[in-house]
Amino acid sequence: MQVIDQRRLPHRFVIEDLKTVNDVCTAIRDMHVRGAGLIGVTAAYGMYLAAREAAGQNDFDEFIRIAAGKISDTRPTAVNLAWAVEQMTNAMKKGRDTEEKTKIALQTANEILEHDIACCRKIGENGLKIIKKISLRKKRGVVNILTHCNAGWLAFGDYGTATAPIYEAFDKGIKLHVWVDETRPLNQGSRLTAWELREHGVPYSVIADNTGGYLMQTGQVDMVITGADRVTRTGDVANKIGTYLKALAAHDNNIPFYVALPSSTIDWKIRDGLSEIPVEKRGGEEVNYMEGLCDGEIKRILVSPAESNAVNYAFDITPAKFVTGFITERGICRANEKNLLELFPEFV
Ligand code: MRU
Repeated sequence: MQVIDQRRLPHRFVIEDLKTVNDVCTAIRDMHVRGAGLIGVTAAYGMYLAAREAAGQNDFDEFIRIAAGKISDTRPTAVNLAWAVEQMTNAMKKGRDTEEKTKIALQTANEILEHDIACCRKIGENGLKIIKKISLRKKRGVVNILTHCNAGWLAFGDYGTATAPIYEAFDKGIKLHVWVDETRPLNQGSRLTAWELREHGVPYSVIADNTGGYLMQTGQVDMVITGADRVTRTGDVANKIGTYLKALAAHDNNIPFYVALPSSTIDWKIRDGLSEIPVEKRGGEEVNYMEGLCDGEIKRILVSPAESNAVNYAFDITPAKFVTGFITERGICRANEKNLLELFPEFV
């Protein structure tokens, strides 16, 4: 399997080969690949690689079981990862022998990827309606959209979630401008979202994470769109650290705050975000150090006093009450259980 090593972007475009389950686990844990949808898709192909590796082992099923556990344990918050591993495990159980199980694994991984792409496309079409309305209200003036982290095509099989409506609107000729939160500590906004938007030709400005509130108070933001890593059936949202603060500021300034997600990001088993969503804590070095281009070379620099203790929660929880609506593959709904179930009645 080949992936873009996202740690190198935006300054280098590096393709990495992942050949074994261990390669896949390292790539997900160390964030060569990241973003809820993409880690789900990578996990699915990781299970296919596990099936190929298992062919040379004494106990095929036991090898697959251990691989499923290892892959699921790499990152805890985005539910798409566990969801994809479960889909793969259930599908592979239907195979009669190792050959058939391996064939099913590849087929299912391809289906998960295709499904992910199709969902993002639909999210784009559905979200376009909201941007169009704002554009008409502004008499076709520039629509200013704030986004946090990277929920673009890099974070999924293609198109992305938060960026899908933006690309759709831009391609249809709607004038827009995107405020890109840098998203410390790993800067998924300034490194990845800015790179994606630049490649697509969408006007954007990178802002320091603390800028959004002031922009909202001064009428420079028309809407916020973020992605999600896990959503409860009641509509609480886990997303990149800092999302909650943007939602609070948007609420205080009456600015619509939308979350774009495929239904594979909804964890129908849980109701309360704060107590039930596992929030990943990563190493403090991600806070103490920053990486960037210096004299043509990628360099890592220390930005805190040497040996500072640093705390690094990777996600936070935005309560449903601060979310204006969800943009999903089946349409737009309010962030509550009743409205989510109207779109997805199979989970009643
Ligand atoms: O830690 P990451 O980069 O994997 O986290 C990704 C996010 O939190 C994104 O904001 C996101 O919305 C989920 S991916 C669409």
